[in-house]
Amino acid sequence: MAAVEVIAGEQPLFALHTDTTSYVFAVTETGLLRHLHWGAPIPASDVIVEPLWELSTNDLIQDITPQEYPPHGRFRYNEQCLMLRFPDGGREVDLGYDSHEAAGDELTVVLRDPKGVVVRLHYRVLPRIDAIVRWATVSSEVDGLVIESAASAQFHVPFRDLTLRNVQGHWGAEQQEMVQTVAGKIVLESRRGISNHHHNPYAVLSRGATQTEGRVWGAALAFSGNTKTVVEQTQYGQTLVQLGVNDFDLEIALDAGRSFVTPAVVAVHSEQGLEGLSHRFHDYGQSLMRPGLRPVLYNSWEATNFAVTCDGQIALARRAAQVGAELFVVDDGWFGRRNPDAAGGIHDGLGDWWVDPEKFPDGLAPLIDEVRALGMGFGIWVEPEMVNPESDLFAAHPDWIYSEPGRDVDSARGQYVLNLTLAPVRDFITTMLDGLLSENDIVYVKWDANRPMSQVGAGRDVWVRHIESLYAIVAEVKRRHPGVLFEACASGGGRIDFGALSVFDDFWTSDNTDALDRLEIQRAYSLVYPPQAMRAWVTDVPNFLSQRTIPLRFRFHAAMFGSLGIGCDLTKMTDEQLSEATRYVEQYKQLRPLMDRFHRLENPSPNDYRLFQYSCPQGAVVFAFLPQSRLGHKPTTVRLRGLDPQARYRFTHDWQQREASGEYLMHRGIRLWLQGDYASEVIRFDRVTGSSG
Ligand code: GLA
Repeated sequence: MAAVEVIAGEQPLFALHTDTTSYVFAVTETGLLRHLHWGAPIPASDVIVEPLWELSTNDLIQDITPQEYPPHGRFRYNEQCLMLRFPDGGREVDLGYDSHEAAGDELTVVLRDPKGVVVRLHYRVLPRIDAIVRWATVSSEVDGLVIESAASAQFHVPFRDLTLRNVQGHWGAEQQEMVQTVAGKIVLESRRGISNHHHNPYAVLSRGATQTEGRVWGAALAFSGNTKTVVEQTQYGQTLVQLGVNDFDLEIALDAGRSFVTPAVVAVHSEQGLEGLSHRFHDYGQSLMRPGLRPVLYNSWEATNFAVTCDGQIALARRAAQVGAELFVVDDGWFGRRNPDAAGGIHDGLGDWWVDPEKFPDGLAPLIDEVRALGMGFGIWVEPEMVNPESDLFAAHPDWIYSEPGRDVDSARGQYVLNLTLAPVRDFITTMLDGLLSENDIVYVKWDANRPMSQVGAGRDVWVRHIESLYAIVAEVKRRHPGVLFEACASGGGRIDFGALSVFDDFWTSDNTDALDRLEIQRAYSLVYPPQAMRAWVTDVPNFLSQRTIPLRFRFHAAMFGSLGIGCDLTKMTDEQLSEATRYVEQYKQLRPLMDRFHRLENPSPNDYRLFQYSCPQGAVVFAFLPQSRLGHKPTTVRLRGLDPQARYRFTHDWQQREASGEYLMHRGIRLWLQGDYASEVIRFDRVTGSSG
């Protein structure tokens, strides 16, 4: 089947096909775009467009028709996609089908309002990934049009009482799995200018799904600012999902000839349960990412905080190289006058991106030279969207920040937010980063944003323009420095979304580095986002947040199923601990090439095992954790996934070399008996070369 199929006629019917999904909609007699199917593949030629009956004078046709992009107006009372204010004061939007263009894997359907508005709905089929990407362009043919709300897309799942999955949390506790039955309308949003720690811009809906079975639909928005995800069960047996830039406090003015292009939404459907959905999302994420394995990094934040010195960093770098790190990242504290006051508050530094001469009397060169001589790449922390009130930058440009007339400026963590919608601010940041990367041998930038936005004042399009500017700056700096990797961080995991992954290369998942908490954070993260982009550090104990002391082995194993980083104060480690750490880093480097497809394995034991696995054509890796043995101390059975049933795999189990077929390992599995508290095990499976399959 072609990816895009159009059955032409007075009321054209459109079908988008991937290997496992068809997505079908058609033009109705009155010019609405009626959604017809999102599920397993069907031939478009078989589709019967049954008439819709108005149930009563209170259930009218616009209301009961599931639509691709319902605007505000007429008898529509469910969540609308588009709200406008016309120059004549009118607010009803009347979109009707105008035309379409289909080319290759793309379809654009043009809707027109006779009062001078054109909406283009874009659909792109990603056959290899098994996903559909949607976005919209709203264009004005009149001066003085105002967009009050413009979603990226609306989807319809033809069932009710679905299970919705997302995450909830806050700083230090991001990505906690949230599962609820849909009733009424559920809104998950960000109003903070970052995609945020509280929820994430996606909706995953399922019907009795397990990890490997059952029907699942999911849609995720590629935007790192204010987002809104609406899940609404209609009264007509369906559930609608809408995603887009949050319309809270939003206005976008459009004069004639101007357009607003919404962020994209990637939508997937799976009949192989949650894992099928995750794999499609992971593939989409990886298609955005720079290919290749991520380096093992060392980051100095938890070891030194702001007390950075050249000698101190060199001491850490030597140890980092000794344990096998491939990249040394100096975190906050290297620039300006970045020193906390007696109470720990910090009011200076941000904006002054010159190297602190007290901490680095000869600049960064001695440190970078040493790091390079030790065989590692050098990375650096920046927070370019922010400024401290006592900085030279703020003294020179007090008008560069967001603020409200007649009000004190909101300060959080002692800092203000720069107004990225101003061209001089964008130029300053671009030039500053370009200079930093040109003058120093830097291969990695950790880009942080440690407070939410506020006080955007009258500029209600700022919620969109700030993020557009952020993306444009990162893209431009990467264009000038193509070898540099960028990590997205916003006080930990506040900027995890596909928009960020379109320009950044890694996510800092959370400031919570407690290995047990991390198992939950990393598991929930993996529902939508690729584990290869998930930075995970091993840090010191007792953990600064949880005050828990977890053995080094468990801490390493937990960090190893993400993209491994180390944040310990290595200068305080004993030789024995250093050589233990060296062994784990070496083991990770050996396993890293096998860590392709991620699986959340089921635990059939009454004991609290947490089981994860990667698979790839050459083999597999199992990560098993037992935080605490329960009464009865039972083993578990690890049934692997994603293996070739006919191939044979070699592995070491219970101190013995073994070999078994993929069939055996997936269907019967191996017994695993961990004992004690914070027990963990990593088992490698190598496909025996020359075997069939
Ligand atoms: C944020 C980040 C941390 C660290 C600090 C530095 O909290 O999440 O990893 O970079 O800022 O100030």
